[in-house]
Amino acid sequence: MSAAAAYARDNRDRHLDELMEVLRIPSVSTDPARAGEVKRAAAWVKERLRRAGCTRTEIFETKRHPIVYGEWLAAPGSPTVLFYGHYDVQPEDPVELWTSPAFEPTVRDGRLYARGACDDKGQFIIHVNAFEAFLKTGGSCPVNVKFLIEGEEEIGSPNLEPFIAARKELLACDAVVVSDTAMFDKKTPSIVHGLRGLSYLQVDVRGTARDLHSGTFGGSVINPAFALAHIIAALKDVKGRVKVPGFYDNVRKLTAKERKAFKKLPHSNTAWRKSIGAKALFGEPGYTTLERVWARPTLEVNGIWGGFMGEGAKTVIPAEAHAKISMRLVPDQRPKEIVAKVTRAIKKLAAASVDVTVTHIHSGEGWLADTGHVALQAAARAVKKAFGKTPVFTREGGSIRVVATFDRILKVPSVLMGIGLHDDNLHAPNEKIDLDNFFNGNEAAVYLMDELGNAAG
Ligand code: BES
Ligand code: MN
Ligand code: MN
Repeated sequence: MSAAAAYARDNRDRHLDELMEVLRIPSVSTDPARAGEVKRAAAWVKERLRRAGCTRTEIFETKRHPIVYGEWLAAPGSPTVLFYGHYDVQPEDPVELWTSPAFEPTVRDGRLYARGACDDKGQFIIHVNAFEAFLKTGGSCPVNVKFLIEGEEEIGSPNLEPFIAARKELLACDAVVVSDTAMFDKKTPSIVHGLRGLSYLQVDVRGTARDLHSGTFGGSVINPAFALAHIIAALKDVKGRVKVPGFYDNVRKLTAKERKAFKKLPHSNTAWRKSIGAKALFGEPGYTTLERVWARPTLEVNGIWGGFMGEGAKTVIPAEAHAKISMRLVPDQRPKEIVAKVTRAIKKLAAASVDVTVTHIHSGEGWLADTGHVALQAAARAVKKAFGKTPVFTREGGSIRVVATFDRILKVPSVLMGIGLHDDNLHAPNEKIDLDNFFNGNEAAVYLMDELGNAAG
């Protein structure tokens, strides 16, 4: 074992303590009341990068939450690797469902529970730990290192793309490494080479100037909740195929080779179904579960509300009704086009007697990389060394907006070496990180730097 890998192993307890420290900061990016906490987390990350050995660390303010940057560029002739992660987290509600409080990190049964434990504080930090391991043992690192840790991933990274476009030289690199995804399962580590994109909309339907007595006025006027229900019901057929005209137009078709590779993975529909407590699986006809989640687009209702939602009964015709609707996108769907098509479809479906506004909240493109790239192969070797198993190449149904941006603007490959598990409860109560994965992840990150140093970008 190399000195750096031994260092990672010897410092497990401290690395865990440090992770717990940053997990105590409630850096919820969507909550304006927590902007100060987000700032505090950024300062923590900057200081951590400095202590690990970065020779330059900087906080870049944006219109909302700061971007943290750090670098160490003292390996002339070696490739430069940009490590991306996010220090912001999702809200902790519903709080009453947490076994231990979201921002009081707690170890139980070999897992660390806290909001952000897996998404993404417990993941991006493994690369900081690995970098530190090299600097503290040999005073040098096999690759030049840049860290880009943002605070707006969970709100759609609104300010990151402009930042990257404006600072191409600062961020120039040979490869990007991201740890913000899950392994296929605990026994099957994976390198992710595809992500879905995302477009998010809000639909507001207004019927009347104010809520109405449903006895006095009921029968004489449209109910906006019904108008909205009609719209939503018409967006998809009962089998699960999206009916928005042109929705599937640019979808890149799965190849026979891809379908075969998906089928080879140790996936079980029954286990999948049971793990989420579903009565049955459901989705677009003609595709398997993994195909549906990894390579087919969706349209979903994320929230729907309006009218009386309190206890008991209130006889009212609500003045308005609302929904949050989002589409997961695959290559080569263009978010702008999809937003336009879905918006048009919603407006067209709206009854003449209501006002419907569709507001675009955020969008990001999907991404798919070639698994043959040297950087991905280097990561596969690093994972095998740390986890004792050759990883499989997988995709994710989730989205990390900036990965497509790296592709498009920096024109470099991204390696997604995630150490999460699908039952880590991301965005849900009792988020956790598996400690075996965290410790193995720290070692994998060390091996990855070695491998990338040898492989070149
Ligand atoms: N780390 C996740 C993406 C992810 C989730 C990857 C599950 C692999 C498995 C990321 O932080 C995330 O939650 N992304 C959001 C996007 C967004 C704009 C809020 C998503 O996918 O919904
Ligand atoms: Mn994440
Ligand atoms: Mn997330």
